[in-house]
Amino acid sequence: MAIDQTFEEAKNKVSELRDLLDKYSYQYYVQDKPVISDTDYDKLYKELVGLEENFPDLISNDSPTQRIGGTILPGFEKVTHEIPMLSLGNAFDENDLLEFDKRIQKLTDKKIHYICELKIDGLAISLKYKAGKLVLAATRGNGEIGENVTQNIRTVKSVPLRLKKPYNIEVRGECYMPKSSFVALNEEREENGEAVFANPRNAAAGGLRNLDAKETAKRNLSIFIYTVADFGEMTADSQEAALKQLDELGIRTNPERKVFETIEEVWTYVQTFHDKRTQLPYDIDGIVIKVNEFDVQEEIGYTVKAPRWAIAYKFKAEEGTTVIREIEWSVGRTGVVTPTAIMDPILLAGTTVRRASLHNVDLIKERDIRLLDTVVVHKAGDIIPEVTRVVLEERSTDSESYLVPTHCPACESELVHLEEEVALRCINPKCPAQITEGLAHFASRNAMNIDGMGPKVISQLFEKGLVHDVADLYKVTYDKLLTLDKIKDKAANKLLTAINASRSNSLERLLFGLGIRHVGTKAAKQIAEQFETIENVQTAKQEDIIAIEGIGEIIAESVATYFSLPEVDELINELRISQVNLVYLGKKKEELAKSDSYFNGKTIVLTGKLTHFTREEAKDRIENLGGKVTGSVSKKTDLVVAGEEAGSKLAKAQKLEMTVWDEDQLLKALEGEENE
Ligand code: IVH
Repeated sequence: MAIDQTFEEAKNKVSELRDLLDKYSYQYYVQDKPVISDTDYDKLYKELVGLEENFPDLISNDSPTQRIGGTILPGFEKVTHEIPMLSLGNAFDENDLLEFDKRIQKLTDKKIHYICELKIDGLAISLKYKAGKLVLAATRGNGEIGENVTQNIRTVKSVPLRLKKPYNIEVRGECYMPKSSFVALNEEREENGEAVFANPRNAAAGGLRNLDAKETAKRNLSIFIYTVADFGEMTADSQEAALKQLDELGIRTNPERKVFETIEEVWTYVQTFHDKRTQLPYDIDGIVIKVNEFDVQEEIGYTVKAPRWAIAYKFKAEEGTTVIREIEWSVGRTGVVTPTAIMDPILLAGTTVRRASLHNVDLIKERDIRLLDTVVVHKAGDIIPEVTRVVLEERSTDSESYLVPTHCPACESELVHLEEEVALRCINPKCPAQITEGLAHFASRNAMNIDGMGPKVISQLFEKGLVHDVADLYKVTYDKLLTLDKIKDKAANKLLTAINASRSNSLERLLFGLGIRHVGTKAAKQIAEQFETIENVQTAKQEDIIAIEGIGEIIAESVATYFSLPEVDELINELRISQVNLVYLGKKKEELAKSDSYFNGKTIVLTGKLTHFTREEAKDRIENLGGKVTGSVSKKTDLVVAGEEAGSKLAKAQKLEMTVWDEDQLLKALEGEENE
């Protein structure tokens, strides 16, 4: 990390870094066209963090480092929308669209165009910019009074904290959760025995209305802006032109928009999206059709609730009815037992659906779902089949409530329903289903990445008694593999190579693969980086783990408890005997600090009296960060640190116009490095 010697230079560097980071983040989050690697981005980001630490006066609210900040709010402040946030009238079929067109034609004599935009299924948000800086973000609320969610919206990376021009404008759009994030979030919640979200909109709403912005940041929300409420310095005569100008300001708009001359063309376009919507990475619930010309919009005007010049064509919910034949229960690696409805096949949004997750026992009870019930099925977030409701009229009179299992379908031990959870759990650590799921997790891509070691191979290895725990995977031999169904010479050799290769993985993969509760890939990496060896992790106290930035009490407790178990000790020993690497192989913190450090590779001269430390101490610390301390000033000197009563060396440095720091600057720089 470069620390410039003067405030002015630091200021310039900070500004340069912010411009760069804003540019890269714009390309990544707004244009969906990343141009640099995450590592390169992180490097620049860290450099900026370092500079801001050393020169706190340079920190400003619109710096990319300040997206997640602030404190946990006691509640959301109310915000009055100076310009009310309206809603839209709906159209459900072709006829509704033709009627809309007729109404428009009656209200104006001018030639008009229609602009079609996707109707994003999220939450309406209003963003206010003053002199190009984001000053307020508010929810719609009842259209007149919403809530101040600025702190949460700042964590949404596609929302620019500053515009490319210093405009005073207010824009509105939809904040949403991408389908992929929704699926991952629900998977994680199910594993943790938590209630799942019904759709991405609810998940986004939950994220956005969290009083702790750190939680919002985890939800990976995004935004599309679709309207300008206050034009400020903007001049546009049509919606199309306005959206284009928003693009130019660095604001994310949806590129999927089109202008048409007739309502018939609009209808054709709308229809194409009936099928295309399932392929989009986000949920849409319709198409919004707007009169493109602003002068005509003004002429046509508004009702109390909605503009007359626009309408929302709503897709029919992709629903269907079918019959539940069976409820299957499966056990995950953490012991959570999840029910799946097995139904008569039904065609839904382009695929045949036979199974729908019922998520948890509470949901079955709440919706009173029974065997042989006729149910309405839909796809949550357009992808995951779910049972919406039971069609009670179709239920036969002799139908009985579904009896929830009391025992584990895999090991038959008694299931528990923990009070704070919605799930049922098998708590038998020897449960075969939990073990095989755990083995599959260990071998999975983000963990030990043993290619070819999928659920089929694993369950066979387990059933044949060849593998009981993850350490046994390293004792698998060629002959043993050949006893498995569908494994011949080639596949066996491939698997052995993959198993062998996984021995050299860095520690974080193992830590993640062990399946310690609450330890995801990120926490595993942080722990490995901090403790470097498994022995250090094994002996770490809860408070040592909590000291890692970003690791909270829940993770720390889980890790400490896990490694306190004697059987875990044994497992690690066996892995060690099998020559599985138990060391972190990434760059160590000190090396990172060194390579990032201003001092690295520089020649420094210390002169005068230092008050905070002795010369020796200062020398040690500089050398630890890769610097070289010499006794005399020469052309090779990069920096002279002048303490009190500095004499000829300082004079020489000044004559040669070298960089000269006082002791405070040195201290700050050294401390800045350590804070990294
Ligand atoms: S225009 C005054 N455009 O749909 C007109 N709305 O049902 C303001 N929505 O409250 C709305 N995508 O939250 C508009 N491209 C789009 C939209 C859109 C989603 C939402 C918006 C609005 C609701 C109306």
